[in-house]
Amino acid sequence: MQGNVIFNVDAKLSTMNMSKLPKLFQVELDRRTGIPRRYKRKLVRRLSDLRGFFSDNKMVGQMLERGKNPIIYEVYEIPQAPSEGLFSLACTVLRPGKIGREYYFTKGHFHAKEPASEVYVGLKGRGMLLLQNREGKIAHLPLEAGNVVYVPPQWAHRAINTGRGKLVFLAVYPSSAGHDYGSIKKSGFAKLVVERGGKPALISSRSLKR
Ligand SMILES: [Fe+2]
Repeated sequence: MQGNVIFNVDAKLSTMNMSKLPKLFQVELDRRTGIPRRYKRKLVRRLSDLRGFFSDNKMVGQMLERGKNPIIYEVYEIPQAPSEGLFSLACTVLRPGKIGREYYFTKGHFHAKEPASEVYVGLKGRGMLLLQNREGKIAHLPLEAGNVVYVPPQWAHRAINTGRGKLVFLAVYPSSAGHDYGSIKKSGFAKLVVERGGKPALISSRSLKR
């Protein structure tokens, strides 16, 4: 990353291997887009990358067969080495849109290394964070410009864009947290967020054919 480095962290602050400590830095977010002006890595998630996640698999297959493979979201990462005490940053731009009645979303994941919390800062747009714990309990919180969501350990989390514009948010999480996407792909969330009467509504995932 080429963030604005000011000076090195004082060696007395930590017993960690100094060669692995990140330097102090700050990153400016573009005021119009919310995207960091400097980042290390950009990930692009297209519909084909989310095959098996949306409830209407048939529609996904038909779209891909016709060569329609839209970008669902992009992630601008500022990662740190996976070491205890360090945080990684990631800015996600989740596009507006639906597959059938289901709003575009991020894959959703548990953290592979539990316990690991995460903080989401809403920068642009309107949406929600869908959460589900290991016991299957489900919750949802607004995720939109101007709010902050705290995700406790052991809750899977998925961002959903229920607005007309892009949903942009910054996530801060332990660099060693890891991502377990497989559990969610296998079992899914118990609820889906769909458009009903022009508004977002949560419905049981069993009520839509997979
Ligand atoms: Fe996470």
